Amino acid sequence: MSNTEVTKFMNFINGELKESNSKRTFDNINPAKNTDLVGVFPLSDSSDVDEAVISARTAFKKWKNMPAPKRGDILRKVGDLFAANKTEIAKVMTREMGKPTFETEGDVQEAIDTCYYAATETRRLFGHTAPSEMTDKMNLSFRVPIGVCGIITAWNFPIAVPSWKIIPALAAGNTIVFKPSEDAPQSGNIFAELLRQAGLPSGVFNLVHGDKECGEAIVNHKDVNLIGFTGSTNVGKHIASICGKTNKRVSLEMGGKNPQIVMQDANLDLALDGALWGAFGTTGQRCTATSRLIIHSDVYDKFLEMIIERANNIIIGEGLDSTTEMGPVINEDAYKRVLDYIEIGKKEGAKLVCGGMSVKNDSNLNGYFIQPTIFADVTTDMRLFNEEIFGPVLSITKINSFEEAIDAANKCEYGLSSSIFTKDVNSAMRAIRDLESGITYINAPTIGAEAHMPFGGVKGTGNGHREGGWTAFDIFTEWKTVYIDYSNTLQRAQIDNY
Ligand code: UN1
Repeated sequence: MSNTEVTKFMNFINGELKESNSKRTFDNINPAKNTDLVGVFPLSDSSDVDEAVISARTAFKKWKNMPAPKRGDILRKVGDLFAANKTEIAKVMTREMGKPTFETEGDVQEAIDTCYYAATETRRLFGHTAPSEMTDKMNLSFRVPIGVCGIITAWNFPIAVPSWKIIPALAAGNTIVFKPSEDAPQSGNIFAELLRQAGLPSGVFNLVHGDKECGEAIVNHKDVNLIGFTGSTNVGKHIASICGKTNKRVSLEMGGKNPQIVMQDANLDLALDGALWGAFGTTGQRCTATSRLIIHSDVYDKFLEMIIERANNIIIGEGLDSTTEMGPVINEDAYKRVLDYIEIGKKEGAKLVCGGMSVKNDSNLNGYFIQPTIFADVTTDMRLFNEEIFGPVLSITKINSFEEAIDAANKCEYGLSSSIFTKDVNSAMRAIRDLESGITYINAPTIGAEAHMPFGGVKGTGNGHREGGWTAFDIFTEWKTVYIDYSNTLQRAQIDNY
């Protein structure tokens, strides 16, 4: 599509495509080619959000009472539609957020897996029965939906991460107001369209595009019962503070600063492949990205040499080009932030051993490209070691023992993912026990979560919830407890039987 044909996208409220009431819009630009306007999107305000919430609230009455396996049938069709359109959707995503198409295809696959998994879960959604204290009485407890869920997501997994929230929320009988990131908004429209094609009733899913103002309107809305958020720690904490005041359930997936430990007995070739994929896959823009390599002194120099050589040869380019291994960072702010961190690293005394430069002007790439960057001799007190950069910057730290490795890995405010490469089963088992993170990988990088397993972090990464798999239903349901007395007498609990 050329820039002369500007595509105008809409909100999707109560089954209808709609402009924002104010008619304001924002542009979405391809981060690999900043002359390429992906599209123009509604910049929604609280009046648009209000309409979306009313629509979701109205639809909730019917949707919650549809038998869960019937809801599952619709979600299975959504999975089929994602599968049938995988290649095309991946291309759209690559254009809007930059990662190569083999990665965006994986992103769609994660949504397909989520749909198929959630569809089967609609036939389980198990509850509990328990004996009563009294005769001729039965106690049971089962899951019920929460109501209207406000879903606010980041741009790095524009289909997969929204699916982790939207699909189980729908399976459980909730209705949705979804605000995708301004940096990957077209994926939101794809989501809406496939849900419509699969036969989701009008109003059950509503899409509102916009910025902070729109997000705040959702979070503050009195008729929204739950917020599911993936994004930065600062925004997450702000959202949580509002949800505290407005008594909403809130599930947060925030930052990461994920360590990969390489022990002296590791298969170094495997650890190398893992480190490169973990650190520079998605241009380092995953919450799960490997951003800290913690290496045993016996293999430190050798591993450093190996990784520098390989990182220098990573092919940077537009994600739509099939030879590209690493795309751009998402936007100008990210580009400046990552370059700032590179300067901070230099000033802190870390040793820049690879990359460190923008590639904006030294090639024909007219986008936000930064070289794969590696700092060695990073100490655990440096900002480079502790702060989430969300870009292609890897810090490497030397340690002398297993204990030192675990202490270094845990010395960080985040706790999403962690990994250790070792052939020693005892070290692996101790690492599983001692690494402070929601996810730990043995002999694999810190990225690679599967849709049917709990996903989330400890410490500064989250607030105790787990998306993915069966645990997502703990986010999107409440428990209803029921006592059925068939004795035909008044039985007073705690009194008559004692
Ligand atoms: C994210 O970065 O927000 O495990 C999600 C992974 C992917 C999901 C990442 N499956 O890296």
